[in-house]
Amino acid sequence: MSQESGLQRTPLLDALREELRGLDEQDLLWRVRTLQSPSAPHAKVDGKNVIVLCSNNYLGLANHPKLKQAAIAATRKYGAGSGSVRVIAGTMDLHVKLEKELATHRGTESSITFQSGYATNLGTIMCLVDERDLIISDELNHGSIIDGCRLTKAERRVYKHKDMGDLEKQLQGTERFRRVLVITDGVFSMDGDIAPLKDIVHLAQEHGAVTYVDDAHGDGVLGENGRGITNHFHLEGKVDVDMGTFSKAFGCVGGYVVGSKDLCTYLQNKVRSYLLSGSHPPAIAGACIAALQIVQKQPSLVKKLWDNTRYFKKGLKDIGFDTGNSETPITPVIVGDAGKARELADNLFKLGIFVLPIVFPMVARDKARVRTIVTSAHTRKDLDVALAAFEKVGKQLALI
Ligand SMILES: Cc1ncc(COP(=O)(O)O)c(C=O)c1O
Repeated sequence: MSQESGLQRTPLLDALREELRGLDEQDLLWRVRTLQSPSAPHAKVDGKNVIVLCSNNYLGLANHPKLKQAAIAATRKYGAGSGSVRVIAGTMDLHVKLEKELATHRGTESSITFQSGYATNLGTIMCLVDERDLIISDELNHGSIIDGCRLTKAERRVYKHKDMGDLEKQLQGTERFRRVLVITDGVFSMDGDIAPLKDIVHLAQEHGAVTYVDDAHGDGVLGENGRGITNHFHLEGKVDVDMGTFSKAFGCVGGYVVGSKDLCTYLQNKVRSYLLSGSHPPAIAGACIAALQIVQKQPSLVKKLWDNTRYFKKGLKDIGFDTGNSETPITPVIVGDAGKARELADNLFKLGIFVLPIVFPMVARDKARVRTIVTSAHTRKDLDVALAAFEKVGKQLALI
């Protein structure tokens, strides 16, 4: 180890710096902006007051007074930490209440919660398949699904995005596997389009395959009162594994699976990310319970989210932007070139609009974009101000 010119040098650090330099040269390094206020439609970001159009806080619950009160009350009563993993001494009555409340909201027999959606996908996929099995995955599935699949010893196949002909092809001749798992995002996180879950379930049933949906962007958004994609397509009880997260519409953190008692008991006994990692702090469990109660009592939140979504999406299209195949509050503004996407986001930020450029490897090289996400907490005025800024910068950059 040497310390020339004040820089700590080891073979590992040298190699990492070299890799970082390469990423920097390709403009692929994250430039993370910092919030100096709560996640809300109006926030202070990097010292500037902006309208936020890139959070997943779909229902505006992240800074909701009832969630804050619930988190404070839970901390007062139960302390800051849970003290253990769920199966040893880390299950408090709050965790049990949260799982009951979630099952009630989703109309299922049971539910199981995890530390995050990422931990849910990794652990659950890993415990369902092994070397005797096959996973068939949509090519645009979220990275947490991809990572979960990579951690298994199952054979893996990828079908073209939402292409049911290709899925059917991949399902042919799979009899030799003990289990075939067809896995899909409910709402695709970069494009905002919805998986054809009815067709997927139908094809899977025809071929004796098992279905798994990651509804991270559908829970609290799709279906009656935000009951998710299975409700949206009237598929309750027909999808084998129905997974979601509290980190988006519910404004907190934590992943989950809803379903039968037997499925949840199996996962409690088998999922390594559940068995081997500390449970939610009381504040989180308390706030998640409050979020579910609000969503159940206030259908107007989901309605407002969709009113805003339709208004903003139409506004962007009318201006002349390519919004791809989005069907949900996630609306991409596709510009193609990565540099242009960054310029669009940077110029919008200067005008007080916070959006995120999404570039390769998160999307194809020629599909760079700015991703917008409206919430139920935005006002019409917020959306009009944002649309005017998009139009101004779009013209400046000759994108429209
Ligand atoms: C489709 C999808 N699945 C899973 C996750 C992970 O969820 P969490 O943030 O709860 O870890 C995300 C979050 O980015 C997501 O977009």
